[in-house]
Amino acid sequence: MNYNVAVIPGDGIGPEIVAEARKVLDAVGERFGHTFSYTELLMGGASIDVHGVPLTDEALAAAKASDAVLLGAVGGVVGKDSWYELPPNLRPEAGLLAIRKGLELFANLRPAYLYDELRAACPLRDDIIGDGFDMIVVRELTGGVYFGDRKTEEIDGVVTAVDEMKYSEEEIRRIAIKGFEIARKRRKNVISVDKANVLDTSRLWNRVVAEVAKEYPDVTLTNMLVDNCAMQLVKNPRQFDVILTENMFGDILSDEASMITGSIGMLSSASLGATKLGLYEPSHGAAPDIAGQDKANPIATILSAAMMLRYSFDLDQEADAVEAAVKQVLAEGYRTVDIMSEGQKQVGCKEMGDLIAARV
Ligand code: IPM
Ligand code: MG
Repeated sequence: MNYNVAVIPGDGIGPEIVAEARKVLDAVGERFGHTFSYTELLMGGASIDVHGVPLTDEALAAAKASDAVLLGAVGGVVGKDSWYELPPNLRPEAGLLAIRKGLELFANLRPAYLYDELRAACPLRDDIIGDGFDMIVVRELTGGVYFGDRKTEEIDGVVTAVDEMKYSEEEIRRIAIKGFEIARKRRKNVISVDKANVLDTSRLWNRVVAEVAKEYPDVTLTNMLVDNCAMQLVKNPRQFDVILTENMFGDILSDEASMITGSIGMLSSASLGATKLGLYEPSHGAAPDIAGQDKANPIATILSAAMMLRYSFDLDQEADAVEAAVKQVLAEGYRTVDIMSEGQKQVGCKEMGDLIAARV
């Protein structure tokens, strides 16, 4: 079967890591008899340089028409890249928000799993790591403070900024359902994260999540305040299975969850909506400081491509093969610099991609 993949290399290390993920997809195609056709699209700074905007209507339409979107990363350095002299709605990150919203990808799945082989890279103490942890952050992606009205204005001579945080019952219900469905396929444990001791949006969140939970009597639901969750992630990460949370809390907690797995360079993500069309990108950013040096870790993007095979194309066996290839390469001792530890073999981005593709 042929699959049409819209590919957005983006900025910084984006083009390097996406090239490795394509290599791995092509290896999957060869072994399992599929073809992947790629359409390259511009987004972020790369699009600003050509079109003056971070995402054109044409690029969004092409993404919509594809079977799935594979994204590297977008963004540069404030104060260095001229992109940041533009108004906020024309900066690289606005392209990312626009494609998430434009494709109605309201559910962002970010798994955080500690590979046994990477224990040495985990910043937590051995007794905390125990026999490892395996969680997934289910982050609401098209609502909340990211998409509320915002403005900066002078009121009585004082400059004042406002960011509106807004959630409807429906927005909460559909992400809660995703969270519980995913929990059902895992260890049946949802921790819903909120700030209900302060925010109305969180109080509504908890009410709707509790309603949805009634439909899933086999899944355990616990509410946890976001500040406590930040602490629990480093104190006892093994208690987490599914973390269900709103957009900004999920942004912050998913970085924390990924860091305790050893490196943010390992963490994949899938952004899904109501259809099979999804957007797959590493949880990390564009890392402009190491761009173009063959130093980036392509594993997060390769694992994102595996999520694409699983969630958009229903190719579970193929996804398993990619994940197994990553595990094997780690077991053989190959490491990019971010996950390097003593006695292992350091390789660059390209070689890591080659090694994984060869083991698919
Ligand atoms: C992420 C990123 C984005 C976000 C930025 C680049 C807008 O941090 O995907 O987590 O905040 O969602
Ligand atoms: Mg983030």
